[in-house]
Amino acid sequence: MQAITVRDRNAGLAGMSLTDMPYPHAAENDVIVRVHAAGFTPGELDWPATWTDRAGRDRTPSVPGHELSGVVVELGYGTTGLSVGQRVFGLADWTRNGTLAEYTAVEARNLAPLPADIDHTVAAALPISGLTAWQGLFDHGRLTTGQTVLIHGAAGGVGSIAVQLAREAGARVIGTGRAADRDGVLGLGADTFVDLQTEKLEDVGEVDVVFDVIGGDILDRSAALVRAGGTLVTIVLPPKVQPRDGRAVFFVVEPDRARLADLATRLRDGRLKPLVGAVRPLAEAPAAFAPGRRIPGKTIIRVTED
Ligand SMILES: NC(=O)c1ccc[n+]([C@@H]2O[C@H](COP(=O)([O-])OP(=O)(O)OC[C@H]3O[C@@H](n4cnc5c(N)ncnc54)[C@H](OP(=O)(O)O)[C@@H]3O)[C@@H](O)[C@H]2O)c1
Repeated sequence: MQAITVRDRNAGLAGMSLTDMPYPHAAENDVIVRVHAAGFTPGELDWPATWTDRAGRDRTPSVPGHELSGVVVELGYGTTGLSVGQRVFGLADWTRNGTLAEYTAVEARNLAPLPADIDHTVAAALPISGLTAWQGLFDHGRLTTGQTVLIHGAAGGVGSIAVQLAREAGARVIGTGRAADRDGVLGLGADTFVDLQTEKLEDVGEVDVVFDVIGGDILDRSAALVRAGGTLVTIVLPPKVQPRDGRAVFFVVEPDRARLADLATRLRDGRLKPLVGAVRPLAEAPAAFAPGRRIPGKTIIRVTED
């Protein structure tokens, strides 16, 4: 089968290519998915899990990409809950070969059924952004109706979903980003927008939850904005500055079949819209990884046509 691989940690992107790889092995409780559309995270060549398995052993050549939408073609020993021919979407394991491939082996529990009327290209944009936004706001941030949440990077993949989910939960939403993001973020349902380049972050006052996707100085300065009993949530790096009388949480997104199914329902109902940016074929994945100005939204790799 054809797959995108990376071979040499030191070479990084220069070592990424379209390669012939063996068809994957379905381990216990796995499914093999024929990948129709895949998502990746631009920074994943810096993740240790891209290069080593759970025991820290070299696992190159490895296949990047951890989001998929596709069709189940094989069940591993003991696998229940999914069937051959079923449309699915979800999150692939971090320390195994990923989704920039024609076929991939995934633990069945990491996937949810995909309704027939949701396009694979849209579904592949949802797993990381959708689950991260939900877990950050509600599991870690404990955001509830009537509270105020400050969402940094609100026009991005995670932030744009977070704005929509927080708004629907009845929270007051302050989104941040660059000047050009203002109309888009307000259009997603934010009550207020702060341009981080020209406006003073400290003017937003106290909030119950900060949801940060930017890190650095923006994250450090946000700790002081957390109201007593509130939470600073970040998905970039463990925070250096803690809220005076609140919690600080850094987390890595976890698979969750039930939540994926809920996100798919919201998508079908028109209550949630992931931002799909460029859609490119598998052979163009190395170019899509390259740094540079991107079309706003999640870049999706279309691996197989329907
Ligand atoms: N821990 C986890 O489980 C987890 C899960 C998902 C993602 N992540 C990480 O979270 C980060 C965000 O992911 P994403 O998919 O949402 O990325 P994204 O789509 O690039 O969104 C980031 C947004 O923040 C904006 N932004 C960044 N720096 C800014 C600044 N200094 N001032 C104003 N706006 C700024 C970006 O604007 P521009 O595009 O104009 O720069 C963009 O709109 C990435 O580092 C990703 O690796 C972690």
